[in-house]
Amino acid sequence: MTDNNNTFGFDTLCIHGGHTPESNRAHLTPVYASSTYTFDSAEQSIDVFKGDEKGYIYGRWGNPTINEAEEKIALLESYGLKDASGNPLQLKAILHASGMAAICTMLLGNIKSGQKILTHYSLYGGTHELVEKILPGLGIEPVIIDFHDLNKVEEAIKADRSIALMHIETPANPTLQCIDLEALSALGKKYNLIVCVDNTFATPYLQQPFKYDVDYVMHSTTKFLNGHGTAIGGIMLGKDIEKMNKGMTKMHRLLGGNSNAFEAFLLTNGLRTFGLRMERHCSNAATVASYLQNNPTIAHVNYLGLSSHPDFAICKKQMKHPGAMLSFELKGGFDAGVNFINRLKMCTNAVSLGTCDTLVSHAASTTHLGVSHEQRLAFGITDGLIRMSVGIENVADILNDLEQATS
Ligand SMILES: Cc1ncc(COP(=O)(O)O)c(C=O)c1O
Repeated sequence: MTDNNNTFGFDTLCIHGGHTPESNRAHLTPVYASSTYTFDSAEQSIDVFKGDEKGYIYGRWGNPTINEAEEKIALLESYGLKDASGNPLQLKAILHASGMAAICTMLLGNIKSGQKILTHYSLYGGTHELVEKILPGLGIEPVIIDFHDLNKVEEAIKADRSIALMHIETPANPTLQCIDLEALSALGKKYNLIVCVDNTFATPYLQQPFKYDVDYVMHSTTKFLNGHGTAIGGIMLGKDIEKMNKGMTKMHRLLGGNSNAFEAFLLTNGLRTFGLRMERHCSNAATVASYLQNNPTIAHVNYLGLSSHPDFAICKKQMKHPGAMLSFELKGGFDAGVNFINRLKMCTNAVSLGTCDTLVSHAASTTHLGVSHEQRLAFGITDGLIRMSVGIENVADILNDLEQATS
């Protein structure tokens, strides 16, 4: 189902969006476990190869199961938005094997040797390593600035005209810094930069960066979009349909970071309850944040819905709700973090985020174990910092688990 006139509700699109009735009348689009596709005639293959007839050719280039997930997410990310002519915004989405694969296609498809990427210092670790350690080997250097300081951002762009692309991640891991999408995108456009946003933490339920005229949005679909922790995946979405169909599609096909039918099926299945899940994730997180704020063993809570968060106002401006991610600092430092994790009875001790169950991780003893103390502190990762992706369990059970683990 498409929604050319913006008539359906968000939850309806989660369920029906992108679905095409099946020739064998299967209720749900099956897992297309086929590496290649056949043609009725040489003439038909010419039409499909030329793009005059819609059809599938080879599994790395896409299949019907993948296509449904792509079209559904494109409808959610463009939900209620209009293009420059006032028509419903059309987006093209390309599903990838992972969030990192989607980010790689976007970056390598838009920037070349000798050009630079402008980005914020607080990014997902994988993206950070990619721009700091891998891309410089290809002649693409990063310029890393505090994106809260718009004057500094503008000065940096003016000082170095080889900056070609601005990469924004908001909210960012794990202190939940928020970046002003409207202001940064306007600056990017003023200087003809390509502007792209990693919208993984917020999801289209909470924030739609295309509203601010950005060029690309990426997600790790592994997280809230899938919602059940069953598959790794990533998506890139663009509003320049011709560029998406040509340059970006070619880059995706040649880099080979394609998704597969089974994981696309799991993603589509998870998306059917996405809106409902987000509602519960968000209300549970608000309750958990206010509980944590009053817990005497906790020194500080990072949650965008608390006025104590430095980016409270930016969040309020651009997000529908502060979301389901939070982090907090235990008073006892590293040992308190380890004890807390060991005492949990229900919440799951795991990295990642966005699954139905509440996920809790202690960065200093897991993801950042090998990072020096000074470097960790520079990223806001203190010894007793616990990151929490609040799940959709009964909130009383989450609170009870936190209470017994901290008392
Ligand atoms: C904000 C963000 N972007 C990108 C990624 C990478 O996604 P994936 O693990 O699906 O490659 C992650 C993973 O945690 C993430 O949190």
